Amino acid sequence: MAAHNHLLPISLLSLLFFFFLTSPPALACDPGDRAVLLKIKAGFLNPGKFTSWNESTNCCTWYGVKCNPHDDGGRVTSLDYRNYGAASDSLSGRLPDELGDLPFLSDLLLANHTNVYGILPLTLTRLTRLSFLYLPLNSLSGALPSFLTQIRSLTFINLSYNKFSGLIPPEFSNFPALETLALQLAGNMLSGNIPTELLAANWATLDLSYNKLTGDPTALFAANKATTYMDLSFNKLEFDMTGIDFPVKLITLTLENNMIKGSIPAQINHLSDLLIFNVSSNQLCGIIPAGPVMDRFDNTHFFPNKCLCRSKVSCL
Ligand SMILES: *[C@@H]1O[C@H](CO)[C@@H](O)[C@H](O)[C@H]1NC(C)=O
Ligand SMILES: *[C@@H]1O[C@H](CO)[C@@H](O)[C@H](O)[C@H]1NC(C)=O
Ligand SMILES: *[C@@H]1O[C@H](CO)[C@@H](O)[C@H](O)[C@H]1NC(C)=O
Ligand SMILES: *[C@@H]1O[C@H](CO)[C@@H](O)[C@H](O)[C@H]1NC(C)=O
Repeated sequence: MAAHNHLLPISLLSLLFFFFLTSPPALACDPGDRAVLLKIKAGFLNPGKFTSWNESTNCCTWYGVKCNPHDDGGRVTSLDYRNYGAASDSLSGRLPDELGDLPFLSDLLLANHTNVYGILPLTLTRLTRLSFLYLPLNSLSGALPSFLTQIRSLTFINLSYNKFSGLIPPEFSNFPALETLALQLAGNMLSGNIPTELLAANWATLDLSYNKLTGDPTALFAANKATTYMDLSFNKLEFDMTGIDFPVKLITLTLENNMIKGSIPAQINHLSDLLIFNVSSNQLCGIIPAGPVMDRFDNTHFFPNKCLCRSKVSCL
């Protein structure tokens, strides 16, 4: 009995010691989520790239995987598989349908895999907690799927530099978290007019540069819109800038390489935060309105244009 009492603290100590030695710092992985991750791995053409995704280890410690930090943890909340250039990181194949089977996922980042192609899987609509969708610099193609608007939790979309084509779906103005929505569709092959619904929406960030968009997007601009970042450069947009009131919170306004006519409105000098600005290679005319904002930018932000000038003297 005495011997037993004496032994107890020692075995407790060794148990604790054993626990600290062997327990991983991260939460244990949810077995269902682990099975899904293994299917995602197997869904690519080169699953061998996922070197740390070993089924006998805690999936919350796998490269690119983050789990819920709460007591009910072990659920996968973030999958970040960006390729920074190491050849070993580059995935190929289609996006596996099983990406839709991680119900706690809020961030999905899979970028710069030029051999990842095909359409976006419809199963993504099952991700009811997905907020951050970052899939640029892949080779994803097809039409932009309007089903993305079924993911009510989305606040940020970056699908830049893929091979999406066709029209921008009008439904893209219907994301409920609209106020903070950043829509990055740059460097695709999108064509046609920007839908009226999308023009009317109040974007924080809108990047539609390097597409083949046509028409008149002036409804995007109103002094009271919350837009801070607007890049419409390198499209085929055609409109008269003369009467426009730009959103006064703009920090970035890049409109170069379109077919913009008219003159630069004096209101632009109210954009006190404007730091990045370019209207070159358009059809603008008239005097650049001198003022605290326009005076920040040298000629490389304005020229060439049709008949734009710095002052009356330089116009003559
Ligand atoms: C997974 O990890 C176990 C134990 O560390 C190791 O024996 C096994 O070879 C690993 N499997 C792969 C596919 O790397
Ligand atoms: C994308 O990957 C290429 C190599 O595949 C690399 O050179 C480049 O730096 C990567 N870009 C980014 C933004 O990480
Ligand atoms: C979207 O991704 C592209 C490509 O990596 C990048 O250049 C751009 O800055 C991103 N936009 C945002 C808002 O993160
Ligand atoms: C403005 O855009 C043109 C392309 O039309 C580019 O050559 C020029 O460098 C840009 N200016 C600035 C200051 O970025």
